[in-house]
Amino acid sequence: MDALDSRQKFSPTQDWDVTEQFLQASDPRHLEKKPGQRRRLWVGLGLLFTAAALTLLTGLLVWHFHLRSDVRVNRIYIGSMGISNKPFVAEYEDPSSSLFRSLADLVNKQLKLIYSENSVLARYVKGSTVQAFSEGDVDPDSVVAYYESEFELPAHQEASLNEAIQSLEPPAGSLQVQRGRLMLNPTNALTVRSVSSGERNSIEVHVRKSGRIDSPGFPDTSYPPSMSQKWRLRADRGHRIRLDFHTLILEDDCQNDFIKIYDSLAPIEPQLLTEQCGYPHGSLSFVSSGNVMLVMLVTNKEKNFPGFRAFYSQIPADDGECGGKLIEERGTFSSPLFPANYPPKSFCTWDIQVPKERFVKVLFKKFAVGKDTPGCLDDYVEINNQKLCGSELKTTMFTSQSNKMTIQFKSDPSHVSQGFTAEYEAFIPTNPCPGKFRCSNNMCINTTQHCDGFNDCGDNSDEFSCKCEAMQMECKNGLCKTKFWRCDGIDDCGDNSDEEGCVKCTDGEFSCRNGRCISKKLLCNNKDDCGDGSDESRCEKSLWLQCSDFTFRCRSGRCISKLNPECDGELDCEDGSDEADCQCGIPPFRSSRIIGGQVSREGEWPWQVSLHITGKGHTCGASVLNNRWLLTAAHCFPDEFAQASQWEAFLGLHVQGQTNEWTVTRKLKQVIVHEKFDHISFDNDIALIELDSNLILNQYIWPICLPSPTYDFPAGQEAWITGWGATVEGGASVKILQKAQVRIINSTVCKDLLENWVNDRMLCAGILTGGVDACQGDSGGPLAVTNPRGRIFVAGVVSWGEGCALRDKPGVYTRITEFRSWIKEHTGV
Ligand SMILES: *[C@@H]1O[C@H](CO)[C@@H](O)[C@H](O)[C@H]1NC(C)=O
Ligand SMILES: *[C@@H]1O[C@H](CO)[C@@H](O)[C@H](O)[C@H]1NC(C)=O
Repeated sequence: MDALDSRQKFSPTQDWDVTEQFLQASDPRHLEKKPGQRRRLWVGLGLLFTAAALTLLTGLLVWHFHLRSDVRVNRIYIGSMGISNKPFVAEYEDPSSSLFRSLADLVNKQLKLIYSENSVLARYVKGSTVQAFSEGDVDPDSVVAYYESEFELPAHQEASLNEAIQSLEPPAGSLQVQRGRLMLNPTNALTVRSVSSGERNSIEVHVRKSGRIDSPGFPDTSYPPSMSQKWRLRADRGHRIRLDFHTLILEDDCQNDFIKIYDSLAPIEPQLLTEQCGYPHGSLSFVSSGNVMLVMLVTNKEKNFPGFRAFYSQIPADDGECGGKLIEERGTFSSPLFPANYPPKSFCTWDIQVPKERFVKVLFKKFAVGKDTPGCLDDYVEINNQKLCGSELKTTMFTSQSNKMTIQFKSDPSHVSQGFTAEYEAFIPTNPCPGKFRCSNNMCINTTQHCDGFNDCGDNSDEFSCKCEAMQMECKNGLCKTKFWRCDGIDDCGDNSDEEGCVKCTDGEFSCRNGRCISKKLLCNNKDDCGDGSDESRCEKSLWLQCSDFTFRCRSGRCISKLNPECDGELDCEDGSDEADCQCGIPPFRSSRIIGGQVSREGEWPWQVSLHITGKGHTCGASVLNNRWLLTAAHCFPDEFAQASQWEAFLGLHVQGQTNEWTVTRKLKQVIVHEKFDHISFDNDIALIELDSNLILNQYIWPICLPSPTYDFPAGQEAWITGWGATVEGGASVKILQKAQVRIINSTVCKDLLENWVNDRMLCAGILTGGVDACQGDSGGPLAVTNPRGRIFVAGVVSWGEGCALRDKPGVYTRITEFRSWIKEHTGV
């Protein structure tokens, strides 16, 4: 077993497998921030060696700070050392036990021996401290020691220290090289010294029973400034640790505050599983490769955020295993523990074998595997001798040329991602899509999706050579598109033929909002040439104008030409009224970035309300306007349910039937249905709800912004609808808040299509993404539009129409700009 030369052997009673860590500090100037800012000079760049038959992995972390440029520099290296033939005992978890101390002593002596072999290291080493032990993950009778070694040296000797460290010969058989980086709160030497001497900021957690860890102060207060806190998690032998974040809200910039998770007990960069900050949107479930995990939270002096709550548990090591023989005609497979992030150091092989005379096709449904690097150096999937990595596949469909197919998946020791799910199916090469439509890329889709105006194949091959249906227009290039995309300023055909003949203005002309045409040369010339200010509405400077239907009115009563100036982050009115009342549309601790997928993230739509009829459950959606008032649709309150007392509002809700710590329920004090609501035409389909007591606004309950009467939501603009959908009778499915992306339809076109059921107090929008299941909008829920600053406004209230049940029928919404003064009059908002 001995891969080292004997001078590194320490004790005759034990075998020491030592892999040294060889690092190199990268040039600290790259990491130095502007003077006056705190300095972050943690740099780690390690080489990782795994020697055959050795049980260890080691990483190193370099810390250094400049006392003064010409003086001395301190560096701390963090590493681990595997010790064979040494069974792990419980006392090793307790740094005050005598067994811990005696083994730590031995490790220290071993380190001294290693350093004494090199004159530079010998001269500058100040000492080493053992931080922790864990069980070795390969050899059951082994222990891994985690240590820090401190060096102090003149600044000009830094290079020779690096060299010295590099000159340490690795044991034979060095296999892998990795780089890593760690930045810690560098308040300065003292904090860090206390880390190495006492580990007072480390919390030991035994994961035998499930439990949770919270950032300090969570959920009542923000985390403290300038701290570095570690949680060392250990599970029983033969288990992995699983950590699921329930909340994670840190400062947006990872240079300031961050959380790091390691697949070890020490912050060894080559074993970094992930670094997170801000309000992450990916999967936040992490699994270790062995039975240890380190969580580290580092914060700076400035702004503090809510922090995190994470649940830990131990799972049998087998649960992370994957691969196998697949012999059914069709099936699915996925990366280990999907949809959690896969564990590091996974390797799986799936052998698909289907009956003779059939071929196999594999379709990746979700794919996020490592970084997209040429040759896929980190993590990858291998199929048909082709390595796949990254999160965007050029093609998602792969076919075999025989009845067998092998797929492999490999993850390296660091930086995990969510992984993939795939479906496979056997097919007869001469008839690959029985009963279905065959795309050029060999995908099979429902025949109903053929020629429906949506690109279901992914390569448009289902939309060529079609005969257009009644609700479709024929593009010049032969494609058929639903008519409601006509004249919305977006080229859906691909040859712009859906946008031809829409505006009567000629090429060199600008089309004013009031319908006039003016020469484009007159744009932004500081003169109101349109007569409604629209030629001056997107210019650097706004004009003071006579008020009209198209100009924003400041509180002073004066009007400006700028389009949608409210809450755009710039002061436009001299009285500041365009930027007043902007505590809406972006919850306090995050940007309102919206990401893909259909299931929303908890807290992504904090204005979404679920209205329940007592005893009947979820019935309608609504939006929060302030701490007292909600906005919804009038048709939610037919005569038999018109009493406020019959209803209950659920706020901060994510999953129907599962209230959490943020969920608040309120009785209604009153429901104000629009006095002109017409239950046949659904004209004026709007209602206001006053709650029986005030809400406390927070990250999970927050108002959406109301647009001024002149706010423009143009045709072609993208928007989101959200909701739990209509409750299915006896349906047992879990109802998680869903979202779907829609696009605002040109009103003239919509009025035509819906045969004059649509009037100016209504707004139409059509579902953008394909898939019948994609869409869940609730009556009364918001049609939400994001302004360029990421602030979300309510453009409409879900009213009627096929909504998204049918892809070729638009949904109709109550146009909120038409009711702005009605809302103000009744609520004061
Ligand atoms: C195709 O049609 C079947 C049966 O009508 C349905 O269950 C399935 O969801 C459809 N698939 C898609 C992608 O629409
Ligand atoms: C809407 O469509 C009509 C023609 O149907 C067109 O005249 C008008 O300019 C379009 N409006 C917008 C905002 O594109």
